[in-house]
Amino acid sequence: MPGLLSRWLEKAQKKMALHKPKSFPTHHHYAAFFDARDILFKGDDMAILEYPDQKTQEEIFHHVVSKFDLQGNSILDVGCGLGYLKGYLDRHYPDYASYLGIDLSDHMVAGAQERFGKGCFIKRDILVDPFFENQFDISFLISVLGYPVGPDPEAYMKGLLKELFRISGCGIGFTHLAPHRREEPSDFTYDPQALKEWCCQVLSPHVVLDDTLGQVTYVIAVYKGIPT
Ligand SMILES: C[S@@+](CC[C@H](N)C(=O)[O-])C[C@H]1O[C@@H](n2cnc3c(N)ncnc32)[C@H](O)[C@@H]1O
Repeated sequence: MPGLLSRWLEKAQKKMALHKPKSFPTHHHYAAFFDARDILFKGDDMAILEYPDQKTQEEIFHHVVSKFDLQGNSILDVGCGLGYLKGYLDRHYPDYASYLGIDLSDHMVAGAQERFGKGCFIKRDILVDPFFENQFDISFLISVLGYPVGPDPEAYMKGLLKELFRISGCGIGFTHLAPHRREEPSDFTYDPQALKEWCCQVLSPHVVLDDTLGQVTYVIAVYKGIPT
């Protein structure tokens, strides 16, 4: 009976966790959603992070990270989740200078610390508690954009990208979702070419769009100078 009950509970939890809100009133509600996923999907990190599997996560990491020379550079990972990018960098790009992962979710920060080291992850809201201009060399924002946040999701997204670019001396790499590739009511999508053009006009003329992942996700890298 306890076995039956726990299986039923597990099923009910998974069903509940598959429910996705159509939008979040603020980015703090978005983070709270990940706190809840951490409880519901305990033991299945990729389900918590909404990746189908780790291979897909690493493929996306590769497409973002490979746009930059990480050697000797300081890295900021905004929306670090459970810290998997840190593990990926340690394995594939061990010559980076430093890494800081930040997230708004208590569970994600604690989980990242448990998995990849205490000193590298903190809870911080860069829109409320900003870093200095060019404080980091390269900033990443991976699988963070994609839900509608706030009353004007586009303005929120652009504000976050502007702030990220301000605090990054070399540039930023981020992912977003392209329209018409998936039918989820919670998707906040943006045309890849249109976002590239916005980056060129507002952030820097040095922008690379990579839409070769063959998934809903595309990658944009924006550089402060001409990339070498
Ligand atoms: C799908 S997870 C991605 C985690 C990680 N980047 C990865 O690819 O494995 C999205 C994360 O972004 C965080 N997040 C959303 N908005 C944020 C913000 N403005 N600042 C920091 N973290 C944010 C959420 O709390 C959540 O942990």
